[in-house]
Amino acid sequence: MNENRMYHLPALLHESIEGLSINPAGIYADLTFGGGGHSHVILDKLNNDGRLIAFDQDEDSLQNAFDDERFTLVNENFRYLKNFLRLHKALPLDGILADLGISSHQIDTPERGFATRFEGPLDMRMARSQVQHVLKDHSICVWHVIRVLQPRKWLTLILKKN
Ligand SMILES: C[S@@+](CC[C@H](N)C(=O)[O-])C[C@H]1O[C@@H](n2cnc3c(N)ncnc32)[C@H](O)[C@@H]1O
Repeated sequence: MNENRMYHLPALLHESIEGLSINPAGIYADLTFGGGGHSHVILDKLNNDGRLIAFDQDEDSLQNAFDDERFTLVNENFRYLKNFLRLHKALPLDGILADLGISSHQIDTPERGFATRFEGPLDMRMARSQVQHVLKDHSICVWHVIRVLQPRKWLTLILKKN
């Protein structure tokens, strides 16, 4: 199992796992896999019948996937949770964990453009490959929003999407 402490230090690790009251033979979903800190502890509490299905839309998180047959990592936005749980026959779930936000890895990687302390492109996309097909032809990053799209056009786009 790959314990990647440099990627992200999980917040409220033991409190959140305790809150899940894990059934060792249950099926769990970690919606924000990141460095796998929470997933690692969940897997440790499962027996051979248990399963963990994890999501992360950032392809960088794939480097942290566990080689464990009880574990599945889906490189997608968790908005598609229901579809993927059906696909992987992971319903019904016994518990869901979501550690929302960005990871230390995303903040600390200059070319991701999340931190102002680095010189780098103003990007801020979490899913660098997937955003393109959400918004068709535009490779949307913060730079494009500010420099290329007019604010009014952008607002119209957001309102249409919601
Ligand atoms: C705070 S980190 C999670 C860290 C993780 N719990 C750990 O222990 O390493 C949040 C992660 O969720 C992912 N994420 C945020 N919103 C997402 C979404 N809507 N769908 C899929 N992944 C998302 C980010 O890419 C990031 O890797």
